Amino acid sequence: MGGGKGRAIGRSVGGMALLAMLLGVLLLCLPGGRSDAAPAARTYVGVASCAGSTCHGRMEGDGKVVRQDELMRWQEPSTPGGAHSRAFAVLNGRRGQQIAATLGLGDAASAPACLGCHSTPARARGARFLAQDGVGCEACHGAASGWIASHYAVGASHAANVAAGMTPLDRPQARASVCLDCHFGSAREGQFVDHRIMAAGHPRISFELDLFSSMQAHHDEDADYAQRKGRTDSLKLWAVGQAMAVERALTLYAGAKGTEGAFPEFYFFDCQSCHRRIYDQAERSKTWEANPGRPIPAGMPPFNDENMIMLSAAARVAAPGLAVRFDADSRAFHAAIARDRTAVVAAAGRLAGSARALADAFAAGGPGGGMQGDMAFAIVREIAGSAISARFTDYEGSVQAVMAVDTLLNGMVKSGRVTVGAAAGIRAEVNRAYAAVKEPNAYRPAEFRSALGSAARSIGALQ
Ligand code: HEC
Ligand code: HEC
Ligand code: HEC
Ligand code: HEC
Repeated sequence: MGGGKGRAIGRSVGGMALLAMLLGVLLLCLPGGRSDAAPAARTYVGVASCAGSTCHGRMEGDGKVVRQDELMRWQEPSTPGGAHSRAFAVLNGRRGQQIAATLGLGDAASAPACLGCHSTPARARGARFLAQDGVGCEACHGAASGWIASHYAVGASHAANVAAGMTPLDRPQARASVCLDCHFGSAREGQFVDHRIMAAGHPRISFELDLFSSMQAHHDEDADYAQRKGRTDSLKLWAVGQAMAVERALTLYAGAKGTEGAFPEFYFFDCQSCHRRIYDQAERSKTWEANPGRPIPAGMPPFNDENMIMLSAAARVAAPGLAVRFDADSRAFHAAIARDRTAVVAAAGRLAGSARALADAFAAGGPGGGMQGDMAFAIVREIAGSAISARFTDYEGSVQAVMAVDTLLNGMVKSGRVTVGAAAGIRAEVNRAYAAVKEPNAYRPAEFRSALGSAARSIGALQ
């Protein structure tokens, strides 16, 4: 176990994604409100319908408006950007078949429990739609039957495309919602990796909206893009991503996915808290640490609070009024887990509401409103500060903290607050923090906190 996180992190550290980010090559998208596009009966037309050589299937990324080589980048085998086109094929690999065999699902490549995330989850399918294409264009951009003919016409606008059913991925909340369906889970069929699937061998799922967006980006944020959709605010994307992840986890946990047989569904809890080794010698050996954010009795698995911790740090800086409410609600939620299911469902509902309020506050635009770029330094300080840092007692939260520090640093470079050279100068410190979470079984909270602290201090020194 633990392959998922290790892999994603390994790639982001060593791979070209970060390098490119440091060079300011990869840029993301813009703020906005909630998606209200009604999910009408729209047909998924398939990747082949987007792939024409005069459309998105060109060999050179030199299109007038968009690059037009999106297909090639989506397929690029050597980068995480190509992962979605391979998502179906991995089901036929050894690990995919092992998982399916263990679960008695038959052929993984035709198992609904896998296809919801490893192919485009499409109800109505056009003649050119192929499940084998994996996570295709429409898995993110939305079923295209309503806009495929009009979206490149003279006079087409983003607003008109969205009205015709295109998903507004430029809005942080809409984008988070799409990614989380597969990179956390949803209530829809075939979009949930429960603990049984994990125990059958599925890699752990790790996600951070801004970092993963950069890793899979196939567009340029040039002047034309900025004019059509506005500039990306990477800090806002990160913060909204944390809030939406908290909201998603709690909403699913409070619903039918929250239980598995006689037990709560373990997927929602911190994996390492149950899976670390046990010692039975004369002298007791305590491997768990008390956590000030989680008033739960000893011996109880802690709900995975990786995104709650980040959200608390972001809220303390950008929305102090709501932060107090969020922290109180999150303590009450953890405490309710020790009581009963009814109490915890009510507490989950309240906490999900606080997370939604924070997502709205972060996404709000206008001068003085929402998440502002110059808050990134304060958030890094907060993450490594005593109140938040004491909450890094478990593996999942610590992984999320390193991704946050990395994402915030990259955002500072993109926004010109830190130079590329200065960021490269402290890269080793950030990599040391990554190294402290590389191997789940070697994770030591105190060592992690110290590595994170030095990374944060060296970022602070750049201000
Ligand atoms: C909720 C969405 C979801 C469901 C359902 C799901 N997966 Fe996955 N799967 C993922 C994600 C996301 C990853 C990538 C994890 C990472 O690297 O962070 C992944 C990774 C994998 C990998 C490793 C791929 C690689 O490149 O090494 C295999 C194999 C796999 N899944 C098989 C399955 C099988 C078999 C099923 C059905 C029993 C299934 N998955 C169900 C989301 C899902
Ligand atoms: C995993 C999700 C995902 C998949 C799969 C995906 N995209 Fe994207 N795409 C995005 C995101 C996120 C953006 C940036 C936000 C935006 O501009 O809408 C983007 C941007 C684009 C843009 C630039 C839009 C602009 O206004 O400049 C084009 C064109 C595009 N994608 C085409 C494609 C095509 C064609 C495919 C399939 C070969 C594809 N995408 C697959 C998520 C995805
Ligand atoms: C329909 C399901 C689905 C959706 C929607 C989706 N993904 Fe994925 N994504 C996957 C699966 C499955 C994998 C793993 C594929 C593999 O490893 O072969 C993956 C892999 C990735 C990877 C590579 C991770 C690694 O460890 O190398 C990145 C980055 C990524 N997704 C980003 C995104 C972002 C950003 C969004 C939203 C804009 C998104 N994805 C939406 C299913 C999805
Ligand atoms: C509440 C405790 C608990 C939590 C939390 C938990 N697990 Fe488990 N896990 C178990 C138990 C119990 C088993 C079954 C052990 C057995 O059969 O001997 C198990 C089995 C497994 C196995 C199979 C291990 C083996 O040796 O074959 C894997 C893999 C696994 N879990 C992964 C995870 C992941 C990933 C997470 C976090 C998303 C997680 N678990 C969270 C209790 C937990």
